[in-house]
Amino acid sequence: MAQAIKTAPNVEFTDAAPAQDDSHSELIRGLSQAQKSIDPKWFYDEQGSELFEHITQLPEYYPTRTEISILRRNQQEIAALCGPSCVFIEPGSGNCEKARLLFDALRPAAYVPVDISADFLRDAATRLGLEYPWMTVHAVCSDFSDDWTFLDNLPPGKRVVFYPGSTIGNLAPHKARAFLQRVRRVIGDDGGLLLGVDLHKSSERLNAAYNDASGVTARFNLNVLNQVNDALDADFDAAAFEHNAFYDENKRRIEMHLVSKVDQSVRYSGGQIALAAGESIHTENSYKYSVESFAELAASAGLGIVNTWVDDEQLFSVHYLSAG
Ligand code: SAH
Ligand code: AVI
Repeated sequence: MAQAIKTAPNVEFTDAAPAQDDSHSELIRGLSQAQKSIDPKWFYDEQGSELFEHITQLPEYYPTRTEISILRRNQQEIAALCGPSCVFIEPGSGNCEKARLLFDALRPAAYVPVDISADFLRDAATRLGLEYPWMTVHAVCSDFSDDWTFLDNLPPGKRVVFYPGSTIGNLAPHKARAFLQRVRRVIGDDGGLLLGVDLHKSSERLNAAYNDASGVTARFNLNVLNQVNDALDADFDAAAFEHNAFYDENKRRIEMHLVSKVDQSVRYSGGQIALAAGESIHTENSYKYSVESFAELAASAGLGIVNTWVDDEQLFSVHYLSAG
């Protein structure tokens, strides 16, 4: 485990980012398949994290504001389920704003934000620690799909994993199950999982959320090519691609793609990638669930729903789960 550095009296930051060689070969593998793909974790460099923050404020992107209102309205009940002085672990913590909403009611002993976006995480965790001096913050830059080795260095106490934002929707169902199984092991018999899941709804509403009128989601999607250029010393030209996002009713998922506008050949250190006009790189899935279909998935990972909160329009769900 990498060395932790102190960024404030009560804040430690550990950079345990994945080894470059491993993630680069995984990236090249994805770009070499018949359907080219890039794992969505590559969206999140500093600029990608800022663009995502911008997305969360768009009128069309309802998930963030809906989940925030559910958390606000039910914070006392949520805090009672989590219990006092828990160790609150958030994989994919982003700007940590949703956890911040709960701290006064929850009073956790420690907060453990985990994110792949190193600088963004360090800044968010440091700001938060300065604002809540009674709580320790152990921020870890890591891929949450890898082993959670950071758990070895955490204080004792009931573990509650917080996984808001429907980030679980970015995992294919078999990976979502594996993620939930890991959470089940991490929280043991007495811990909990507080998780936000976006709900299946009309294609119109979903298509609008991922095709906003001001084009921020398109910029977020295209920005992934800058990360790939940096990682692979490649020469992707974002102007030669366009954003395409659509809801597939059968698969119950939004698919995001970057579509090549022309026949082109992209060079990277060690090879070339040919793209025909109209060919796409698949950059993200965002699965949508019903309360029932999510409960089934959770049960298959050994987790049972203790409580579910849904907004009046039934757009978004928040669940508290434990070993079941
Ligand atoms: N929890 C926040 C942010 C959600 S956005 C919210 O609900 O608003 C998804 C976050 O997960 C981003 O901050 C991104 O950097 C992070 N992320 C995506 N894939 C990741 C991975 N494989 N490992 C660690 N963090 C990841
Ligand atoms: C982080 N994740 C849950 C977002 C989503 O809605 O799938 C990422 C996103 N992609 C486009 N807009 C937002």
